[in-house]
Amino acid sequence: MKNIYLIGFMGSGKTTIATALAEKLGLTEIEMDAWIVNKEGMSINDIFAKFGESYFRQVETDLLRELAGKEDIIVSCGGGAVLREENAALMRQAGRILLLKAKPETIYERVKDSTERPLLNGNMNVDYIRGLMDARQPRYLAAADAVVVVDGKSVEEICTEIHEKYMK
Ligand code: S3P
Repeated sequence: MKNIYLIGFMGSGKTTIATALAEKLGLTEIEMDAWIVNKEGMSINDIFAKFGESYFRQVETDLLRELAGKEDIIVSCGGGAVLREENAALMRQAGRILLLKAKPETIYERVKDSTERPLLNGNMNVDYIRGLMDARQPRYLAAADAVVVVDGKSVEEICTEIHEKYMK
């Protein structure tokens, strides 16, 4: 089986769905942010503050290059990982790319109490989320092999939809 890459905006449920699908399908789950935090020995906030966003983006690319050689993995990608075309190409060459799509209001409800996303700290409102999402949407859509709308669906429903529609 090919690898699966879950992409989408912060708070779209990539990590939750990756964990559930990994269990359901017997795949190994890779959570990009968690891997990066572990490798760098500091939080995402601290990486952005100390080294800047472009450094973080390069670490993402390095990780995706490493993962492209693996099999039977499901990767929960950072929300900005697909913005570099190079990254999307690395994913495409190694597996299928599924976009989890949620409305800005849904995203806001899920991320509003978190301070762990540097791009949203100080910008925690629906309008900002909508603006950043609109700006990114063309990249997300260009990279995705399939789009899964997640608003109002349970984890189980989303996993079943992905399994039945996109993995058979
Ligand atoms: C980012 C999303 C975050 C994390 C970093 C940057 C983004 O991951 O990689 O804060 O640019 O959208 P999640 O999508 O897992 O929150």
